[in-house]
Amino acid sequence: MKLKYLVSAMAVMMLSSGAAVAKSDNLASFHAEMDSCQSCHTKPLKVSDSETHENAQCKSCHGDYAELANDKLHFDPHTSHLGDINCTSCHSGHDKPQLTCNNCHNFEMEMPFAETKAKKKWDGAWDQDKIQKAIDKGPVETVDVIVVGAGSAGFNAAISAKMAGAKVVLFEKAAYTGGNSMLAAGGINAVGTPQQKKKGIEDKVEWYFEDAMKGGRYKNDPKLVQILAEESAGAVKWLESLGANMNDLKRSGGARVERTHRPSGGASVGPHIIDTLRKAAVERDIDVRVNSRIEKIVLNDDKSVAGVVVHGRHSGYNMVAADSVVLATGGYGMNKEMIAYYRPTMKDMTSSNNVTATGDGILLAKEIGASMTDIDWVQAHPTIGKDSRILISETVRGVGAIMVNTDGERFIDELTTRDRASDAILKQKDQYAWLVFDEQLVAKKKMVRGYDHLGMLSKGNTIEELAKITGMSKLPKTASDYNKYQAAGKDDAFGRDDMPLNLTKPPFYAVKVAPGIHHTMGGVAVDTDANVLNLQSWKMSGLFAAGEVTGGLHGFNRLGGNAIADTVVFGRIAGENAAKHALEKK
Ligand code: FUM
Repeated sequence: MKLKYLVSAMAVMMLSSGAAVAKSDNLASFHAEMDSCQSCHTKPLKVSDSETHENAQCKSCHGDYAELANDKLHFDPHTSHLGDINCTSCHSGHDKPQLTCNNCHNFEMEMPFAETKAKKKWDGAWDQDKIQKAIDKGPVETVDVIVVGAGSAGFNAAISAKMAGAKVVLFEKAAYTGGNSMLAAGGINAVGTPQQKKKGIEDKVEWYFEDAMKGGRYKNDPKLVQILAEESAGAVKWLESLGANMNDLKRSGGARVERTHRPSGGASVGPHIIDTLRKAAVERDIDVRVNSRIEKIVLNDDKSVAGVVVHGRHSGYNMVAADSVVLATGGYGMNKEMIAYYRPTMKDMTSSNNVTATGDGILLAKEIGASMTDIDWVQAHPTIGKDSRILISETVRGVGAIMVNTDGERFIDELTTRDRASDAILKQKDQYAWLVFDEQLVAKKKMVRGYDHLGMLSKGNTIEELAKITGMSKLPKTASDYNKYQAAGKDDAFGRDDMPLNLTKPPFYAVKVAPGIHHTMGGVAVDTDANVLNLQSWKMSGLFAAGEVTGGLHGFNRLGGNAIADTVVFGRIAGENAAKHALEKK
């Protein structure tokens, strides 16, 4: 028997034996009793913030996630969409372990020594004394470019900066990388790609530009939108060059053609892209440090960037020097206080965001005088699973679902923009809606099987049965009318101009949805080179930003598929310019 299987078997036996459990009340003492502290740590004891050695130790005994996968479990955390995250993201040795999955879900899973409901809070207070001491002590290390936040924008910036010749470190406050991008379900918008050509889809940079501007109610910064449209095909090509599969195409709300690129087979785009970027960073030997929260951006006397103060889980507060800092910390959709302040009407809404989306970069940049653009513009996504934090992707409507009220009547073109769809739902008598689709859609979209797995779908063998189960008395007539419009290629009721599927193949499904916070359009003001601007609209020397932390690109309302496009296009621009700036200063 291999050692790791032996160890796993021993662990199970000891956990189920009263004597062993009675002695240990946490994972660390349990392992120490079995062997010694060295079963996890090095001697002399030195723990890096990323707990790299400890994670390798876990895997050397227990096996990697593929080996741990257990298909007998209803939900297996080891085969989740979080990818190959650190074991210590959930199984902390000395702290109370926690189920990272339960930041969004509500699984009743057992974990040794854990409180399964424990949730990590990220919007804690900053310790100004410790920050000042770290600055007074001076830098403990120097690099060219510091990237803050390991979501898609951060990884793209870090990889680009490294490829441009800079010494880079990528800091992430969470125990795992991926940020909010890891949860992205839609895709990446791009125009003029081989994928569009192969499907015979005519598209133009001007059309992409116009759709994004119209979707944003013409409040977007047109210069940023122009770059997004022009560079979008290059962004897809770049992801593919790093190993991503972007071969599926769908149409998102507000787009006039199919331009949202996704992995073939219908998997969610976020985990796939993040997995690709994680591997690309490893291959390029990029220094990625998790459990490392940036507490301050430090400036020189001339106001240029001098570095940051980072708070490492094990190493404490330290200053790291760099001539360039890229903020890629995402939005503030999970910061209750910021939502209540900037958008009080949304303060009680659920959010589809990762717990890490607490607006840190906005606060860090504000503190040193950065200007903000459209900071109070927050997007409600119309279809978050009712009473949950799970996004029901726009893809579901894009590939054919209809949206109906609690009586079973359609009330809007399902492919309208998110702001309009959300407003329309909130005007229905129960302020929630149902998405209805059939087996044809389930066969096409793997992600829908995930919603089923989570117990979110109601199912009927006929439309009448589904209507009865859900109480939507008018659903049979609505479905029959819709099938006629679909066959005729003309939606007489709401003018929906893309109806890829009808509702004919049993079983039929419905999922309850309601609007919730999805994207914060406003943020740090930037120019087209990803320079952060101060209150006089001057460049802040050495400070760059990309992704949801920035404002201006999406205007009043972001279109589906433009967030990932933003993170890749402007993440790359930020990384390249940050490297150039730092290398020129040498
Ligand atoms: O609904 C969605 O799939 C979301 C996509 C996006 O926010 O871009």
